[in-house]
Amino acid sequence: METGSVITELEKRLPSKRFEHVLRVTETAKKLALRHGVSVDRAEQAALFHDIAKFMEPAAMRKLLEKNEEDRMLLSFHHELWHAAAGRIIAMEEFGVTDPDILNAIRFHTTGRAGMSTLEKLIYIADLIEPGRNFPGIEELREAAEQGIDVAMKDCIVHSVLYLIDRRAPVFPDSIECYNEHVQRK
Ligand SMILES: [Fe+2]
Ligand SMILES: [Fe+2]
Repeated sequence: METGSVITELEKRLPSKRFEHVLRVTETAKKLALRHGVSVDRAEQAALFHDIAKFMEPAAMRKLLEKNEEDRMLLSFHHELWHAAAGRIIAMEEFGVTDPDILNAIRFHTTGRAGMSTLEKLIYIADLIEPGRNFPGIEELREAAEQGIDVAMKDCIVHSVLYLIDRRAPVFPDSIECYNEHVQRK
């Protein structure tokens, strides 16, 4: 797959702010991959595609997810969560991505899940800490990402779950399972 043609396609599908976010996530993911011994090429691919469906109409996303028999529970949650699952399908169907690890990294970048691969965690972390993000505690998350992927993933999922609970927002079960797994690990 040509990186250049994916970037051209992203530019068409995303408003400039989101497009720039994707480029920053990609750079962050490549740096983390290099630092922690993950394939830079696969990190780049997963990062480029992670938000490809972010600006799809909710009705079109619903159709796509239903047609592909995606997790029904996802559709009962806010459509903000749907773009990750829709992105996986688009990467597969429109761009011919077949690598299951890359597809899972796209699929679980918003919720996390129990049993994430290193690449999945790396994309989740890069999405949260890319240089354009700014929220209380982000420097600690960036430092954790320097230390290790597992350390950082634990801090990131704790941050995300707390953020939702703070706002009395629903937490998707995959995120709770991800949280439980990380806080139970010694
Ligand atoms: Fe996203
Ligand atoms: Fe993102």
